[in-house]
Amino acid sequence: MPTVLITGANRGLGLEFARQYATDGWTVYATARKPEEAAELAACGPDLSIHALDLKDSGSIRRLAADLAGKPLDLVIANAGVIGSREMLATEVDEALFHETFQVNTIAPLELAGALLPNLRLGQLKKLVCISSRLGSIGYNATGGQYPYRASKAALNMIWKCLAVDYAKEGIIAAAISPGWVRTDMGGDGAPLDPETSVTNMRRVIDRLTPAENGKFFEHMGDELPW
Ligand SMILES: NC(=O)c1ccc[n+]([C@@H]2O[C@H](COP(=O)([O-])OP(=O)(O)OC[C@H]3O[C@@H](n4cnc5c(N)ncnc54)[C@H](OP(=O)(O)O)[C@@H]3O)[C@@H](O)[C@H]2O)c1
Repeated sequence: MPTVLITGANRGLGLEFARQYATDGWTVYATARKPEEAAELAACGPDLSIHALDLKDSGSIRRLAADLAGKPLDLVIANAGVIGSREMLATEVDEALFHETFQVNTIAPLELAGALLPNLRLGQLKKLVCISSRLGSIGYNATGGQYPYRASKAALNMIWKCLAVDYAKEGIIAAAISPGWVRTDMGGDGAPLDPETSVTNMRRVIDRLTPAENGKFFEHMGDELPW
């Protein structure tokens, strides 16, 4: 069966990805900042292992890659993310919070992708997916605000496009996916989508990825989004 690595798998969309792939018999490498507290994740099935990963610590990314050395990965889902601040104004920029948002949402996913390239090369499917956001689409932005989050996801999109260009010759397929607005800790109770529906939809998009979709940005229903 195929293998998948999912970051931020202890709650929200990451947990639902882990649950669904484990249910379908995939071998799941799930990451959490505190594996010992990830009880729901641990209950997802016998072919699931939990690995410590804190995206604010590049040493943690290197340790994860060392743990997984020699293991083929068919699919990597860079899912973990933070909202930063919804309220930050141009007149009150919190630089530390901005940096932290970029570290988790943008820089660390690039480091992770680089560190796991050897595993993807060993895998059959060679799919490298980041969970982005429609809020990261510059073309779609009509409401402004949410500076750190929007900027970090727009930059993540650019990074994924670069990865798509740089590694296409090795057969790696890199795509960004927006999950829609989903009822998780980040999305809040008022969101229209439940995690099961969003993840089911995103898995369909991931299933259909071929080299023709390399370097594209999709929403969870499969339509392409403007960068
Ligand atoms: N929910 C939505 O409506 C929505 C919409 C668009 C895009 N997204 C994107 O979808 C992805 C998942 O979001 P979600 O809704 O599932 O959010 P969530 O419920 O808040 O879960 C976020 C996950 O990221 C992990 N994480 C945060 N900081 C981390 C760090 N420094 N190192 C490692 N892991 C870290 C969290 O781990 P801890 O439990 O340890 O904090 C948690 O597992 C994110 O990239 C988000 O931007 C969500």
